[in-house]
Amino acid sequence: MSTTAAQSSERVAQIVPEALAAIHEVLEHHRVTEEEWYAVLAFLTEVGRADEFVLLSDVTRTSVLVDALSHEADESATASDVEGPLYVQDPPWREAPVKIYEDYEGSEDGDVLFVRGTVTSTDGTALPDAVIDIWQTGPSGGYDIWDERQPEFNFRGRFGVSERGQYEFQTMVPKPYTVPTDGPVGRYLEAIGQHAWRPAHIHFKVTAGGHEPLVTQVFFPEDPYLENDTIGAVKPALVRPLERHDGSERGLDAPFFTCDFDVSLRAAG
Ligand code: BEZ
Ligand code: FE
Repeated sequence: MSTTAAQSSERVAQIVPEALAAIHEVLEHHRVTEEEWYAVLAFLTEVGRADEFVLLSDVTRTSVLVDALSHEADESATASDVEGPLYVQDPPWREAPVKIYEDYEGSEDGDVLFVRGTVTSTDGTALPDAVIDIWQTGPSGGYDIWDERQPEFNFRGRFGVSERGQYEFQTMVPKPYTVPTDGPVGRYLEAIGQHAWRPAHIHFKVTAGGHEPLVTQVFFPEDPYLENDTIGAVKPALVRPLERHDGSERGLDAPFFTCDFDVSLRAAG
């Protein structure tokens, strides 16, 4: 249900004074000086100019908290997770057999991965009108938007599912990467001694008629940053094994991996 303007104003009137009171208490406790407070305001101005407020929310684990508050834990539905700042609107529609990338200089040492599963409602009914939207890094160079070697929308794409709700897409096993560190949020991380690494993951947005949209991420076991994600977004239920196969099983000239990830959506309302 969408929030009306009146409901929004009521929430602002309730929450903002309490948030300010909490900030005032911290300022008093630490006897913050005018000079320090102006440095805070200059930092926040810079965060806004650099379009890094989502990133700041993520690395301070605020996004994870708000995700938890917004989506009640429900064992029958797939767990949600933070969207992050790196989604790009209007990714290309990919027809079956779905492949979401082109090879590029740097991808040759990576491993091919087929991710597959079924999209259902929490009661187990298949959702044949589901649409899946994926974004992830490649095996080298991070996201396409940072890496000149990759074509636009590499490792991104939207696609449908079968009559029985099944999907499969071909990608490559992503690698851990650092969130952007060249702006004010990077300076903040450095100042507080927090590393910038995220474990390898694949982002999913899944929609289907009559169901709540799901934004989530899939992680892989044995990643060095699984216990130590800079945005704290790893949920055990979203860690999925990678299974190694001989290339001959799919006519490939190198071994490849598969990962099974079924998606269960809550009915809307
Ligand atoms: C990401 O996973 O794409 C991401 C999340 C939070 C901050 C930066 C990047
Ligand atoms: Fe990501």
